[in-house]
Amino acid sequence: MRSADPAVVSLQGISKRYGLTTVLDGVDFSLQPGTITGLVGENGAGKSTLIKILAGAESPTAGRVVLGGEPLPSTTGAVIQAGLSVIYQELTDVPDMSLLDNVLLGNVRSTAGVLRRAANRRRALDGLRRVGLQDVDLRTPIRDLTISQRQLAEIARCLVRDTRVLVLDEPTSALPERDVETLLGVVQGLKAEGIAVLYVTHHLAELFRIADRVVVLRDGALVADAPLSAWDERSLVTAMLAKDLEKAYPWQPRELGPRVLTATDVHAPGVRGSSVTAAAGEIVGLVGLAGSGRTELMKALSGVTPRSAGTVEVDGSRVRGGSIVAARRHGVLYAPEDRKREGLVLGRSVQANIASGDYGPISRFGVLRNGVATRRAEEFTRKYDVKLRSVHQAVGELSGGNQQKVILARVGERSPRVVFLDDPTRGVDVGAKSGIYGHVFALAEQGSAIFVSSSDTDEVLSVADRVYVLQAGRIVGEFDREHFDREQILHLAAGGNAQNGLQT
Ligand SMILES: Nc1ncnc2c1ncn2[C@@H]1O[C@H](COP(=O)(O)OP(=O)(O)OP(=O)(O)O)[C@@H](O)[C@H]1O
Ligand SMILES: [Mg+2]
Repeated sequence: MRSADPAVVSLQGISKRYGLTTVLDGVDFSLQPGTITGLVGENGAGKSTLIKILAGAESPTAGRVVLGGEPLPSTTGAVIQAGLSVIYQELTDVPDMSLLDNVLLGNVRSTAGVLRRAANRRRALDGLRRVGLQDVDLRTPIRDLTISQRQLAEIARCLVRDTRVLVLDEPTSALPERDVETLLGVVQGLKAEGIAVLYVTHHLAELFRIADRVVVLRDGALVADAPLSAWDERSLVTAMLAKDLEKAYPWQPRELGPRVLTATDVHAPGVRGSSVTAAAGEIVGLVGLAGSGRTELMKALSGVTPRSAGTVEVDGSRVRGGSIVAARRHGVLYAPEDRKREGLVLGRSVQANIASGDYGPISRFGVLRNGVATRRAEEFTRKYDVKLRSVHQAVGELSGGNQQKVILARVGERSPRVVFLDDPTRGVDVGAKSGIYGHVFALAEQGSAIFVSSSDTDEVLSVADRVYVLQAGRIVGEFDREHFDREQILHLAAGGNAQNGLQT
């Protein structure tokens, strides 16, 4: 590398079009060794597309990428060989294989056909040490590790391959809060080793902790590239959205109606005797660490999973357990956190996904009316600010955050009596987040009872009227908004004992 140009990667005039849609438009920037560069932008701004180009998975329509003084190779395998690795949001490990085999995946060295077992093992251990996993038994099947450990193992796998450039696409969006710190620490360690890091996130606070520089994409164009010291949270949001975001979650007192939902001593997979209530127009937060049973409770109450004991009443009548259809008849809906696996059929159109399971409004005498369905889908996607080309487009082509908005549009427009929103803002940009909570508040105003959870406890506390704290499948605390005590809530969620302030 020439000393005048310390960049290890440079993007020069990168553009990408899909048909008539321009997704990236003349993007220029570079990554330096030992530097963490943050990449931010609204949902659909083009971040993931840029990463796919860096990974060699997509080729640019115009422009070029230079890696270590050479043109970027054109296949993903060759890009990895050349020292650039990407950690995608979805894990790419092989669940049934051991930790050791996963870390060495695609990179087992041999001499004259003989595996160099000891040497390979040493390399794997070295990678694992650099991500803090040195104490985990190498024979453990990777599916037995936590999500956070699996993600760290993926990073270790990149390190074993002598990565000089590491790209991370929203690495903390699936991590429980307490593991975010660990990941940030690991990334800082890699920087200290001289690796060039590109870090994509919607959690701006993370960038203020670790980034040296932040690059902003807006509608596919690079609009800012400045050292961290030049930014504060407000200027960064303004650069992303091209407008000021006044207050993210404008909570206002609401008139609550009668009790809508009463769940008593519910037992279900991951739920060990939970009782909850909700009133019409009430926003009830579920707070708990990953694995505390937030998702499981929502699934049990909305008929996704069977209940082994306990009762659920909606508007005074019993709802049969274990049946989504029965729950839906009582106006109970669930919006899953894992949109890819449970929420959407990625290969089908946005319109089909919005209509799915609810053909009443778009059919007449049992015949589907396509024009009506299209108009309805168009109206919803406009209202929920889904960025797309057409409602006939496959939902899988939308950016992650926009897929999440499609799920919300589908749920929100059915005037539910009770709705369970499981981490509704996962992977959603700051602007869209406040938009989503705007819709949540509107739903509450219309009298729906809303349960909401998030991996971001502060977010739940800023929107909820009341919260339950969960731990190991049980409710260990309940707080009204006027008694919200962040420290105590976090303490309880982490398994601490109740002190003053608890009111059950
Ligand atoms: N295969 C494709 N065909 C058509 N359009 C596509 C395709 N892939 C991506 N797009 C469009 O490119 C734009 C940018 O998407 P991209 O996934 O890069 O956004 P992003 O910045 O990563 O957003 P998010 O924060 O929501 O993940 C989106 O409008 C998306 O619909
Ligand atoms: Mg993305």
